[in-house]
Amino acid sequence: MQFDYKDQVVLITGAAGGFGRLAAAEFARAGAKLVLCDLDAGRLEELKASLQGSNAIVETGDVSQEETHRRLVSRAVATHGRLDVAINNAGVAHAFTKITDTDNATMQQMLAVNVIGVFLAMKHQLPAMERQNSGAILNVSSVAGIVGAPLLAAYSAAKHAVIGLSKSAAGEYARKGIRINAICPAFAKTHMLTGMLDQMRGGAEAATQRIVSNMPMRRFARPDEIVQAMLWICSRENSFMTGHALVLDGGLSAV
Ligand SMILES: NC(=O)c1ccc[n+]([C@@H]2O[C@H](COP(=O)([O-])OP(=O)(O)OC[C@H]3O[C@@H](n4cnc5c(N)ncnc54)[C@H](O)[C@@H]3O)[C@@H](O)[C@H]2O)c1
Repeated sequence: MQFDYKDQVVLITGAAGGFGRLAAAEFARAGAKLVLCDLDAGRLEELKASLQGSNAIVETGDVSQEETHRRLVSRAVATHGRLDVAINNAGVAHAFTKITDTDNATMQQMLAVNVIGVFLAMKHQLPAMERQNSGAILNVSSVAGIVGAPLLAAYSAAKHAVIGLSKSAAGEYARKGIRINAICPAFAKTHMLTGMLDQMRGGAEAATQRIVSNMPMRRFARPDEIVQAMLWICSRENSFMTGHALVLDGGLSAV
């Protein structure tokens, strides 16, 4: 399906990663003006170079810091006069660990990036959208934000919080023309997943076989299957969906 984002200003965090990079390319192809953020300056510059002619604004920054969001939104508004879509996608996971072996610093990092990062993003994006009486925000949670994830408790807790933030904000802004949703993917082959598989018992290949054999579709997601949903959820055509947490897990949480 093709969506038209011509002249819409689209902000993406975690833009240099698996979903983010592909989302940037697809939104650019659909005509969007991009504002891109990531912690990784090198990969962000590579991404900008790959998006020839798109005039993307890129900002290296940490989403757990309020200043990052202040800068991103003010650059979007100063350059283009508006902010139409925000994909709050930056996130971090941790190594598979029992709760009793999870250190406080890991828990704090999960909350700082995955929860405070989304909270601060919306805090700065919403006033810009409110001035226009329009906008769409999509926060990237996880299937681990819908069901528990043994050995990933800190990540799962943080991703549950993303859904609480998204639904609450959706209620606050529904009458102001701003839609706020979350997506809950599972197991798509990005840096995040390959990093986790490498650390698992027996190595990545054996871990992949174990996980995939428990998935109804017997395969991981392709990143483009998640990114296509992003384009649809934020599109003007999808005008009545707000406060929703859409699961994209190949049936994993259904059975
Ligand atoms: N890949 C999966 O299977 C999967 C499943 C469920 C949810 N998710 C979620 O999808 C989102 C994107 O992950 P991905 O799979 O593309 O992983 P990824 O590791 O490829 O990309 C994440 C990006 O976020 C950036 N980032 C990390 N911390 C940051 C910070 N503090 N400030 C700014 N940028 C930061 C990283 O540099 C990286 O480019 C994450 O929120 C992740 O939790 C992924």
